[in-house]
Amino acid sequence: MEYETPLFFRVMQYASSADRDVIDMVSGNPDWDPPAALREGLHEYADLESAAFQYPPSDGLRELREEIAARRGVDVEQVVVTNGAGEANYLAMARALERDRGDEVLLTDPVYPYYPGKTTMLGGTQRFVAADEDGQLDPADVRAAASERTGAIVVNSPNNPTGAVYPEETIEELVAIAEEYDAILVSDEVYDHYDLSGRFASALEVESDHRIVTNAFSKSLAITGFRVGYAIFPRDLVEAARSRHMLVNVAGSRPAQYAVLQALRETDPAYYEANRELLRERVATFTDALDAAGAEYTTPEGSFYVLARFEDYPGTLENVFRLIDEAGVAGMPGDAFGESRSDWLRFALVTPRVEEAAERLATYFS
Ligand SMILES: Cc1ncc(COP(=O)(O)O)c(C=O)c1O
Repeated sequence: MEYETPLFFRVMQYASSADRDVIDMVSGNPDWDPPAALREGLHEYADLESAAFQYPPSDGLRELREEIAARRGVDVEQVVVTNGAGEANYLAMARALERDRGDEVLLTDPVYPYYPGKTTMLGGTQRFVAADEDGQLDPADVRAAASERTGAIVVNSPNNPTGAVYPEETIEELVAIAEEYDAILVSDEVYDHYDLSGRFASALEVESDHRIVTNAFSKSLAITGFRVGYAIFPRDLVEAARSRHMLVNVAGSRPAQYAVLQALRETDPAYYEANRELLRERVATFTDALDAAGAEYTTPEGSFYVLARFEDYPGTLENVFRLIDEAGVAGMPGDAFGESRSDWLRFALVTPRVEEAAERLATYFS
């Protein structure tokens, strides 16, 4: 599988140039509103003095880093504000590989395709550990794949594309394996606010110098266009990551960070719960229709995605294009996430038209 250029944008482009109405279930862009405080923060920003339009501190606004540190129970010096979880993952993986302990990156299959792409870009080598049918990762399999060559283990929970949420025991074991092999566990927790199972465990709960936690406000505040995320590093790894961040970006976006800070301070937990509830309803609607279509599917414990398998309709790019043209529904080819899901298609439940999409699929496949 060619991972190096993720297919998301290609599929979205095909869907938007189709000759018919297409329901977009490709992107991971929430279709619900950001919190009111975020919009207010942004409005307020327009009237600030001109100094507010200049560079912020490279590693992020101090108050935002303090807010993140307080929420996550870490020292503010461990927090680097990044250009989304995408940059946070890049910094974390780069930091793990530049330690020169090993150049191999352990990834899961299925995998979020940007991880293998980043691995190659950073000069690392990929090694995949299969998740089970439900997307769960058996730490024993990770241990069996780990060696002196392992520089990093990169995991994501709640998971894209499987919807799996790893239990606490898995996270503890993954940290232990990273410690055993003097590697770094990179735990991408960008969907933490969309844990529908109630059993999400952050790697931050396990005290260790061998794990880096990455996250962003892209999904939790429904602002993928703002590009504000963060990484939490062990104390001895943070300095070099901060330099890399500065050399690549100079700094992040100041108005976006300001608005995020306002949103964090003023948004009630009910905002997040309402979004989870919306997702729960969509999962039920969509999977009912998949039942009607006779498809096999995964019921997500978290994140936004459902993997579905239709008889004699493998998850290739060609079939995704055909589904766009013939059914008016755009999903992602399963084989973009690894060989193990090459028979599957991934549908993102971030459209108000989930019910209509489900009906189109049921009609097309039955
Ligand atoms: C698992 C995972 N990590 C990272 C990202 C990128 O997040 P951001 O938009 O904050 O860079 C995504 C986006 O879909 C994702 O699914």
